[in-house]
Amino acid sequence: MVKVAVVEGDGIGHEVVPVARDILAAVRPDFEFFDVEVGYGLWERTGFACGEETMAELRSADAILFGAITTPPDPDYRSVLLKIRHDLDLYANVRPIQGGDVDIVIVRENTEGLYSGIEWREPDRACTVRVVTRRGSERVARYACTLAKSRRHLTVGNKANVLKSDCLFVEVCMAEAARANVPCTARYIDALCLDVLMHPDRYDVIVTTNIFGDILSDAAAYLVGGLGMLPSANIGERHALFEPVHGSAPDIAGQNIANPIAAIRSAAMLLRHVGDPASAAAVEGAVRRVVDVGVRTPDLGGTAGTREFGAAVLREVGRGKA
Ligand code: NAI
Ligand code: MG
Repeated sequence: MVKVAVVEGDGIGHEVVPVARDILAAVRPDFEFFDVEVGYGLWERTGFACGEETMAELRSADAILFGAITTPPDPDYRSVLLKIRHDLDLYANVRPIQGGDVDIVIVRENTEGLYSGIEWREPDRACTVRVVTRRGSERVARYACTLAKSRRHLTVGNKANVLKSDCLFVEVCMAEAARANVPCTARYIDALCLDVLMHPDRYDVIVTTNIFGDILSDAAAYLVGGLGMLPSANIGERHALFEPVHGSAPDIAGQNIANPIAAIRSAAMLLRHVGDPASAAAVEGAVRRVVDVGVRTPDLGGTAGTREFGAAVLREVGRGKA
């Protein structure tokens, strides 16, 4: 029995996650779902965005289906998603950029780097410590190499020309790639951001540090139709969390216009993770066919609502099974 924790979070999380969950439940009626409330909404009501009880619930799940969380720039508010990634030690954030001829997978280090959480403010100075460890780099590099081994090659996105911390990251990644016999090139992240957009065919698996991966993946979304399209997996040794790359999108929340594809594809990644690649492919195929016949949310130039798009995918998945 696979136990799936469902976290809608905030904003459009309340709209796209139910769609993804219904599709999961349709292809795997044997899954057990339970809701977990975390986020800014909860913090406003209770003063806690994600307490220890909540963490225990998340730990008890075989996989977590996650929406998005609003993080206000309030100095007293610590990002919940950073806490979850940290506490569950979800060290690899896997972000496939796929569609048309584009097939790239960004593997982002997810527990340290500039998002180390080590920061403080002084009256006229604010500091954030960028932490790169050998262990942190090794495990994410190993994950990326395993992936690249079954694909083509690896690129290490970095800024080692300026940042000493990235010298260690590149060194470790190159060593892991050599060990795994994976062709590997290091590229500076600024030039890489542009080159990925201009020549996506040059890239296959890209491994990089936390903030660079965050920025590179949002930019690369341009290649495949925007943020509404990108799913992700956050992988650790013992836990795994699946979520769209996008945030809570307060500008469009509550209007039934958010694109649920990122969330649905995240559910497909969850299926693959629990050992059901056939259902994952069925869901991904259904999404593709629905888009191809012209059922699209406004971000893709269509007029379908979030729920209507979800219903169309559900019908298509059902047809595939019949
Ligand atoms: P965002 O990703 O929420 O939105 C950026 C732009 O893309 C907005 O114009 C939005 O309308 C559009 N967009 C995003 N997802 C879409 C979808 N599924 N369909 C159609 N359009 C979509 O990023 P933003 O605005 O910078 O952040 C909003 C909030 O989300 C902030 O509080 C931020 O901290 C949080 N955030 C949370 C993340 C998470 O929980 N993983 C990731 C990124 C941001
Ligand atoms: Mg981001």
